[in-house]
Amino acid sequence: MSDHDYSDVFAEFYDHTPLYRTRVDIPFYVDEARAAGSVLELGCGSGRILIPTAAAGVPITGLDLSEAMLARCREKLAAQPPDVRARVRLVHGSMTSFDLPEKFPLVTTPFRAFQHLISMDDQLACLRCVHRHLAPGGRLILDMFQVNPAALSGDPEWMREREDTPETKLPDGRTFRRTARITAFHRAEQMNEVEFAVYLTYPDGRTERHTQTFPFRYFFPKEIEHLLARAGFRVVAVYGDFNRSPLANDSAEMLTLAEKSDEHGGVQ
Ligand SMILES: C[S@@+](CC[C@H](N)C(=O)[O-])C[C@H]1O[C@@H](n2cnc3c(N)ncnc32)[C@H](O)[C@@H]1O
Repeated sequence: MSDHDYSDVFAEFYDHTPLYRTRVDIPFYVDEARAAGSVLELGCGSGRILIPTAAAGVPITGLDLSEAMLARCREKLAAQPPDVRARVRLVHGSMTSFDLPEKFPLVTTPFRAFQHLISMDDQLACLRCVHRHLAPGGRLILDMFQVNPAALSGDPEWMREREDTPETKLPDGRTFRRTARITAFHRAEQMNEVEFAVYLTYPDGRTERHTQTFPFRYFFPKEIEHLLARAGFRVVAVYGDFNRSPLANDSAEMLTLAEKSDEHGGVQ
């Protein structure tokens, strides 16, 4: 099973991680959602994008595999005004096998959620589900990083823990810092095994170390175009950042906007 479940401990720290808190993608997704009128977000997590979208007046359905992430999202939603809460529907399930009663003009996968799908079968199953849930002319946004060849090289430097979150205070007085590293390179499978390690310090000085390891698939732009074509989509734009700059050699992001080209979504 390639589905990746976010553990409780990572769900707890997700919204306190500066790397995620300062990510500049929210206005992009809110604008896209406003233009579409309603949205289905696959891998909505703790609601980092979902809540600002609902607060901007757009009805949004969020689907996620992790109960722990959805629980964080529900907790944050409880603090929102009733009209914002009324625009949100949360669904527990996998993006490879969902079946919802309505169709949407827009489906999104913010912050690389699709990269948790390792096998081509899972990727096509997800695209097949998206196709069924899109209204005619509806759009899908696939959100991935652009491959950094250095991170595929097998260089032992990438296997050493690198701090991606400096010492950060939590509201309850504990502090944490986080490191990331690649534990295995699988170039033939187009994926790396990634490990996050959280170092937690309690106010009484006690410390704990928690790790989470998961496979992360990487994709190339022309591969995406083919994959989408197999599932009945046509690529309409590929951006390299959230200002909609075209994908370039040094782009960190790879955002593929696709629309339904074939009403039957014939997966081959
Ligand atoms: C990096 S988080 C992104 C969360 C949120 N979209 C954001 O931008 O902050 C990836 C999310 O994808 C979810 N996820 C991973 N595999 C999934 C699957 N097969 N189906 C649904 N959600 C999945 C994880 O539980 C996690 O919440």
